[in-house]
Amino acid sequence: MESPFKADILKGQVAFVTGGGSGIGFEISRQFGKHGASVAIMGRRRQVLDDAVSALQSEGIQAIGLDGDVRKREDASRVLEEAFKHFGKLDILVNGAAGNFLASPEDLSPNGLKTVLDIDSVGTFTMCHEALKYLKKGKGPSTGGLILNISATLHYTASWYQIHVSAAKAAVDSITRSLALEWGTDYDIRVNGIAPGPIQDTPGMRKLAPAEMQSDVSRDDRLLRKLGKTWDIAMAALYLASDAGKFVNGTTMIVDGGHWLSKPRYIAKEEVKNLSRVVEKKSRKSPVGIPSSKL
Ligand code: COA
Repeated sequence: MESPFKADILKGQVAFVTGGGSGIGFEISRQFGKHGASVAIMGRRRQVLDDAVSALQSEGIQAIGLDGDVRKREDASRVLEEAFKHFGKLDILVNGAAGNFLASPEDLSPNGLKTVLDIDSVGTFTMCHEALKYLKKGKGPSTGGLILNISATLHYTASWYQIHVSAAKAAVDSITRSLALEWGTDYDIRVNGIAPGPIQDTPGMRKLAPAEMQSDVSRDDRLLRKLGKTWDIAMAALYLASDAGKFVNGTTMIVDGGHWLSKPRYIAKEEVKNLSRVVEKKSRKSPVGIPSSKL
């Protein structure tokens, strides 16, 4: 799909994307690159990074791949320094690296929970912490740089087999708000999040909604039921990273077509009207003798 944004909205900027080798992180890297940014992507698997960098470069994007694990502070510090040395500055940090799997609470060991918290929550903080010295010097749309944390909507209610990720993403959202307050005040750095709904063709979907579990959801075309595209998330990221988003700080933008609001519908729409009439009629009869005007 064509981007609705001008091709130069991120011209001259340098973005660093963790988890940039695949899925949502890759598409954000690609769209940032297509809108003028140079991009450093970080991941654990060298081959995935190499393939992603080749794909980005084939579209004329200046890109490098740096391998490291966001759980290791020394990796975070090393790759950020390498990116800074390569491009000469750093304007945008996108925390897209995440870990996930389906597990019921009784099958999840405390270490399983900790592993996801370490990647998603502590990893996000570690990257922010190590990137601060570069983002302070950023010359992006504002005088400071920008941080974008990829979150989720799982924890707004509760999600089956996702206790670990729900806890981890709740912490990510909290980190987003705290850093937005503190670093927005002290360094003019904006810190925002994006909470994607179910997005097709991502490692997350392959793990959380394997073909065996999908019924007709992926074929459903209604807004609240259909799957999003990585493009949808990348467009939200572009908005937040561009001048258009320069007054947005401390928010986590939900990009899910309204999916998280939806619960299974117990009564068909047509029946609601009829049922409502019946209930109203009954209540007007006022069984305990109270005049209907007083009800
Ligand atoms: N169900 C229950 N527990 C699980 C599990 C599963 N499917 N997968 C891993 N765990 C537990 C392990 O049992 C272990 O706990 P233990 O030591 O008490 O046994 C703990 O999690 C760590 O597992 P390990 O395989 O050593 O971690 P890792 O660092 O190699 O891998 C993961 C991290 C588990 C998050 C792995 O899925 C991963 O690397 N994911 C990255 C990609 C990804 O998930 N993308 C989707 C993003 S939405």
